[in-house]
Amino acid sequence: MIELKSDKDIDGIRKSCKLLAQLFEEVGPQIAEGMSTYDVDALCYDFMKRHHASGPCKGYMGYPNVTCVSVNDMVIHGIPDKHTILKNGDIVSVDICLEKDGYVSDSTHTYEIGKVSPEVHQLNEVTNRCLYLGIEAASKPHARIQDIGAAVSGYARKFGYGVVRDYCGHGVGYSIHEEPEVPNYVSLANPNPRLRPGMVIAIEPMINMGTYRVKTEKDGWGVRTMDGKPACHWEHTVAITSDGLEILTQL
Ligand code: MF3
Ligand code: CO
Repeated sequence: MIELKSDKDIDGIRKSCKLLAQLFEEVGPQIAEGMSTYDVDALCYDFMKRHHASGPCKGYMGYPNVTCVSVNDMVIHGIPDKHTILKNGDIVSVDICLEKDGYVSDSTHTYEIGKVSPEVHQLNEVTNRCLYLGIEAASKPHARIQDIGAAVSGYARKFGYGVVRDYCGHGVGYSIHEEPEVPNYVSLANPNPRLRPGMVIAIEPMINMGTYRVKTEKDGWGVRTMDGKPACHWEHTVAITSDGLEILTQL
């Protein structure tokens, strides 16, 4: 069931989302060559503590950290560790859920470390564009969930990129994963509810340079591309209100 949020609850979710946007603004510029993915997580955790917020990923189905930090061919759910050191030319996605006063926000940025190849830079730009095209599709009157996936996959495929199908966006706000699912592709087999005021969803294209196919690491979390080619991931939490769509995780 899709739980519609009251204006009061959207207000609380908005506050959580703005704090998460602030976290990215503060931590993003500090992410640099030589840091471990654990160091990135530690910066985020420290921000949360200073702002009396928490990271609901930690403890979610046994997940150990407040962020997922995924380098190059790691698509999502990279567990931060002290041995994975960021180097020049890498891309790193930082996926964060934050909880403030009981309300959950979710957002992901993919950072380029030093100078990345033009091909990788394009992948990152296109994935970010996919996010905004998905958001634009969701903001049209009478839009349905699958309009998002149509916009995302339609644009990504122009570049020959693989659109991840095994993982989706989702409702968010009261907890990390709520209904509806928000796929980045179109399928007649999937539900296609209309977007309605009160819905809060995380839109999150995961786009691979090569195949759309992915595999899970032995740790049970990390998800890599099957062909070892790089992947990018961008995510915003958005609210559908009576005034239209609002991107909450943006300042
Ligand atoms: N932030 C992730 C998402 O966008 C959730 C990760 S759950 C975790 O859906 F446990 F892996 F952190
Ligand atoms: Co998400």
